[in-house]
Amino acid sequence: MTKTGLFISFEGIDGAGKSTHIDGLAAAFKDQGRQVTLTREPGGTPLAETLRELVLHQPMDPLSEALLIFAARRDHLQQVIEPALARGDVVLCDRFTDATFAYQGGGRGFDLSVLSQLEQWVQGTADGIRQPDLTIWFELDPRIAAERLAGARVPDRFESQPVAFFEQVHLGYAKRAEADAARFARIDASKTKHAVWQQITRALVQKGWLSIMVATPAGLE
Ligand code: TYD
Repeated sequence: MTKTGLFISFEGIDGAGKSTHIDGLAAAFKDQGRQVTLTREPGGTPLAETLRELVLHQPMDPLSEALLIFAARRDHLQQVIEPALARGDVVLCDRFTDATFAYQGGGRGFDLSVLSQLEQWVQGTADGIRQPDLTIWFELDPRIAAERLAGARVPDRFESQPVAFFEQVHLGYAKRAEADAARFARIDASKTKHAVWQQITRALVQKGWLSIMVATPAGLE
């Protein structure tokens, strides 16, 4: 297995069920001898976590929202993601820029060309625009996601949006996946946790990034 860094992001509408699987994959990569950096967006550094609190809870206009998210991303890339990839870590990131195109672009209807410009400024490297090597997209009907989320916790500024918002978010993800199909692994998140876990590990085994002997985490058997 190669020891170069791997950057894997996890995407999907709220309620699609990413969290348990991300933790399980961190354990699976560690079991197979890799160093893992487990992180999230917005967030992952003290500054970016502070910006996350503002974005999730303070009212603001769509441009301010997009700017804060990309400011958080810049700090996260510089402080955490790029150093981890340079060390050869597997970086597992709960959401990345596809979420901005889906939520701010799709959900809020914000100008996609402005987002593309910000993406180039913030993710630009000497070798081009930094993107995940693989994006695992938990694809789920927004109505099912809403049922799963109902009453689960106090909703933030995104979770409190109506189903129509998440339909637009879903379309935003679909457009990003269509534009960069080779980067996306589409996972049918309507299935049982065990079946979802199998779809994800199959995608990673196919890439040669996990060996076939992946232990199924507790709670996902
Ligand atoms: P989420 O990742 O779902 O974390 P938790 O499970 O703790 O709620 O929450 C982050 C929220 O931020 C989610 O509703 C999507 C939103 N978000 C954006 O709107 N744009 C972005 O670029 C990112 C990364 C997240």
